[in-house]
Order: sequence, then C-alpha cells, then structure tokens
Amino acid sequence: MSLEQQLKDLEQEAARDIAATDSLEPLEELRRKHLGKSGEITAILRGLAKLEVEEKKKIGQLANEIKDSIQNLLDNRRKGLEAEALSARLSQEVIDVTLPGTRSELGHIHPLTQVTEEIISIFYGMGFTVAEGPEVETDYFNFDALNTPKDHPARDEQDTFYTNVRPDVLLRSQTSTVQIRVMNSKKPPLRVISPGRVYRNEEVNARKYPLFHQLEGLLVDRDVTFGQLKGTLNAFIRELFGKPLKTRFRPDFFPFTEPSAELDSQCPFCEGSGCRTCGNRGWLELLGCGMVDPNVLQGAGIDPEEWSGFAFGMGIERLAMLRYGINDIRHFYNNDLRFLRQF
Ligand code: DAH
Repeated sequence: MSLEQQLKDLEQEAARDIAATDSLEPLEELRRKHLGKSGEITAILRGLAKLEVEEKKKIGQLANEIKDSIQNLLDNRRKGLEAEALSARLSQEVIDVTLPGTRSELGHIHPLTQVTEEIISIFYGMGFTVAEGPEVETDYFNFDALNTPKDHPARDEQDTFYTNVRPDVLLRSQTSTVQIRVMNSKKPPLRVISPGRVYRNEEVNARKYPLFHQLEGLLVDRDVTFGQLKGTLNAFIRELFGKPLKTRFRPDFFPFTEPSAELDSQCPFCEGSGCRTCGNRGWLELLGCGMVDPNVLQGAGIDPEEWSGFAFGMGIERLAMLRYGINDIRHFYNNDLRFLRQF
C-alpha cells in the first residue's frame, strides 16, 4: 500500500474513533494513539528522510495536513462533548425561582433593655446623664466607701462573688458603687443615673437570681431637700406607669443614706383595691432611696457643709416584672422565644 493510502486510511480510522467517543477521557487516549510520539503518522514522518525529494515533499505535506485535520476533529468533538455535559447539568440543576426563600427573622430588643432604656429616657428628661462603672469592683467601692465597714451587718444582705485576683476584688452587689466613682472623678453639681449588672450570692428562685440589673441615681447640689427627692421620684413613677399614682415613703435603712426610705406606689393595675400583681396589698415596693449620708460625701472628697444630695436605686427585673405581669425572674435569662416574642 502506498504511503499516501496509508495516511488516508489512518485519517479515516481516527475520524471513526473520534466520532464513536461519547465522553471526554477517551479523547485524550485517541490523541495519543493517532498523533502521539509512538503513533503511526509520526512513524511515517520519521521515515521521510529515506524518500526521494519529490515524494518527501508530497507525503510530508499530506501527513501534516492529516495531523491538522485529526487535531481539528479532536477539538470539535471535545467542544461538542463539553457542551452536551453542560446542558445535561443545566437541565438537572433547575432552579425553581418561585420557591419561597429562607426568611431571616427580625429580632427585637430584650424586655430588660427596653425597660432600662425607658427609665433612662425619663431621667434624661429631668437632666440626668448616664454614668457607668465596672462590674468587677473592689470591696472599697462596693462597701467601705458606701459607709459599710467590714463588720457592718448590712454586708450580710449583699453577699457576692469574690475573685482570686485579690481578696478584696469582687463582683459588685449594687450599682451604688458608681455613686462613689462619679463623686471621686467629678465636681458637684452632679446629676447621674447608672444602669448595670449586679451580682449576689443567692440561691435561684422565682424572685432571685445571682445576676440581675439595677439602676442607680445620684444628685448632688447645694441645699438639696427630701422634698426634691420625692418630687423627682413621683415624676418618674408617673412617667413609668403612664398615669399619676399615689406614692408613699416608708422609713428604711441603707448605710449610705440618712434618712433612708423605701418608695411604694399605688398598684397601677388595681389602683389600690388589691390584685394578684400587688399580692392584694394595693401597693408596690419600687425602690430604695434617701439623702446621701454626709460621711459618704466626705469620703469622696465633697464638703458636706457645702453640698448635699439624694440617691436612689431600683431593681430593673423587679420593675419589668411588675410592668409586664411576669411571675418568674428566670424567664428573662432562659432565652425562650415563646417568652421573648411577647414584648
Ligand atoms: N443599693 C441598694 C441595694 O442594692 C439600693 C439603694 C437604696 C440604692 C438606697 C440607693 C439608695 O442609691 O439611696 O439594696
């Protein structure tokens, strides 16, 4: 058989092989078989040296043309197969644009934060600004500077958590610490509130939790009176419950105020006639307050002959529970959406 015929047969064979291929991997195999170093066309090209000049030219040219044509067939088949594979994938991976998407739920502010923000805004309206203090405190700020020395029985009610940093480093049991921090760092007149977390070493029950929140208030100015304290707190209660309610101040004791009182308001739900929220008493105990003890002012470097003040402190959970009729403090921390969604 002539070399020319051999080449034409090889071309046909390659064309048949390529047409019969139905996936991409065998194509590479075919390229090696027909065009590779040990392929038959390559062998013919190698043998060209032995031929006559004319023959060499003719066969050489033909062999190269056939190589190109086989390469073209391979390329086209590859493109064809790739296109088929793509359209097969596309028809399988159909995206149904009419399916509803995954909605992300809108959250909202935690009820405790809502109440805190509301209380802050009421006091803003009366010229108070927010001051903050650390939750990890020293014995000094939590007790001593608040007129509660080591052997004072009032410490018993505020057992807290101590750290191993130093024996006197503890988690604050009250936001009253911020009163001292503010008086130490600023000159009177002062008008601040301070919301924040406090800690108590207590057993958990429906009304008590080892972590809770308080909001402290402090006003220091010249000639501050108990009447101003009452007026300020009455205005607060009116705003908080949205209506004027009777209030009463019962004598109480706090080491850092003198005199001290507990503020009760008429129950906003039954307006005094007795209901479940107020335990049929008609009154709600809302917060502790009093006139800043001169010892405390003195200790913080403020002259009690020139300045006087009042202070108050409230439990935020307690107010939120009254406000929303919540009967168990633990609901605030369980993060149960069935509870949280109601606010
Ligand atoms: N710190 C007190 C407590 O945790 C609450 C309190 C009472 C704060 C009277 C005050 C105050 O500022 O004047 O029980």
